[in-house]
Amino acid sequence: MICCQNLQKRYGRTRALDGLDLRVSPGELHGFIGPNGAGKTTAMKILATLTRPTAGLALVDGVNVCEQPQRARRLIGYMPDFFGVYDNLKAWEYLDLYAGCAGLSGAQRRARIGELLELTGLTDQREAMVDGLSRGMKQRLCLARAMLHDPKLLLLDEPASGMDPRARAQMRDILREIARMGKTVLISSHILPELSELCDAMTILERGRAVFSGSAQEMRRKLDGDSALIVRFAPGMDEETAARARERIEAACGARAQEGEGEWRVSAPGDDARDAALLGELISLGARVCEFKRQQATLETVFMEVTRDETQPDL
Ligand SMILES: Nc1ncnc2c1ncn2[C@@H]1O[C@H](COP(=O)(O)OP(=O)(O)O)[C@@H](O)[C@H]1O
Ligand SMILES: [Mg+2]
Repeated sequence: MICCQNLQKRYGRTRALDGLDLRVSPGELHGFIGPNGAGKTTAMKILATLTRPTAGLALVDGVNVCEQPQRARRLIGYMPDFFGVYDNLKAWEYLDLYAGCAGLSGAQRRARIGELLELTGLTDQREAMVDGLSRGMKQRLCLARAMLHDPKLLLLDEPASGMDPRARAQMRDILREIARMGKTVLISSHILPELSELCDAMTILERGRAVFSGSAQEMRRKLDGDSALIVRFAPGMDEETAARARERIEAACGARAQEGEGEWRVSAPGDDARDAALLGELISLGARVCEFKRQQATLETVFMEVTRDETQPDL
């Protein structure tokens, strides 16, 4: 549904996108994750036909967004990161205004607005003034607006930013429902855990390039690969036993053990059989093992690792 190849965008000396490759399959809920300034908004604006790339290719459902912007726009619903809403309109009037712009006729409009208010949990707010709605409600109204012309693809730029946990959970439920409707969704965030549970696949962006792209399972496998074994010994172990224990641990895990605060840590993917054998060996050596556990890398540590350097190159 989305195919970007070697997408580049320069603003003067800043490379907002520096060779972005991005693929999103039809029906996928795809997380687009990266620190602030990574280029998420720029990529979405290019896909939404609001700005042109300096170089590279961007296709939406096979349509080149630069060559056929009008055709692309019919396929895309875009929710920008910042948007204004008109003060003196009711929620339904606001949607009606945009439905008119999208070319929907009277009867179509009423039905569509009703459906979208229902989908976004705003049916009760139908007659409420837009400027009096909570932030979460405004975001949802904007999402409804992006869906008026029934696009195949939704581009949602940080739709949950600034929301409280309850509003975020509500937004997640709505996005799941939208995915069930068969829509393709590209959703950005600078917070990885926010999307890791929700999305089928994700692309992590750093300094205008993808540094990870894959399914949620692949991400989890990466997490497992980044896990560590932690072994702690009771005080009073003699040096010779300690040295032999270290040797055994390093041989079993194939990595160097790091010592700190009375415990040893070795990076090693999970392997229950190896761990069980190693524990047996350590005890038969006479090592005073008092703690032996595996620590999973958290999503945050993986994110920090793949996006290690957040500074923007000034080229
Ligand atoms: N209109 C613009 N003019 C100049 N620089 C811009 C403009 N828009 C974005 N940038 C720069 O491009 C980089 C990527 O920005 P952006 O796409 O907004 O990242 P993100 O959405 O991931 O935070 C940043 O360094 C930003 O300052
Ligand atoms: Mg942004």
